[in-house]
Amino acid sequence: MPGAYRIEVMHGVNLNMLGRRDPEHYGTLTLMQLEQHISEFAAELDLEVRFLQTNAESEFIEHLQGLIGMADGLVLNPGAWSHYSWAIRDALEIAALPAVEVHLSDVKAREEWRRVSVVEELCVASICGKGVEGYKEALQVLHAELEKARA
Ligand code: DQA
Repeated sequence: MPGAYRIEVMHGVNLNMLGRRDPEHYGTLTLMQLEQHISEFAAELDLEVRFLQTNAESEFIEHLQGLIGMADGLVLNPGAWSHYSWAIRDALEIAALPAVEVHLSDVKAREEWRRVSVVEELCVASICGKGVEGYKEALQVLHAELEKARA
């Protein structure tokens, strides 16, 4: 029986401030509470999850570089970097892991600049506007994708 898939859940800039951000867009959970929910979803799917949050773009990139061979898949919410960080896009391409992009808020229905995602086309799916449930969906999509690849 092969081991559980290893999923890295990466949160970018300002996601550590959840709980203090506009609840209309981001809900009321703190990052710690959000991660607790994600851990529960992962356990239901028998996935192993690890978390990173950073406000430093270089750390986010170096973490992605370090994942090669260390993770089977990736859930990422890069926050505002999603909309313009070509450096993160390159790092994601180099990591070459199945990835799902998640946004708590419905970025496609907000300001013009948020509607663009530079990582979207490298991801198996992009899920936005579903709050914490979006992470559950992301884990389900990744699980299905990894099972497909294993078959
Ligand atoms: C976000 C959406 C981004 O536009 C914003 O900059 C964030 C959070 C979200 O989860 O909805 O920081 O990624």
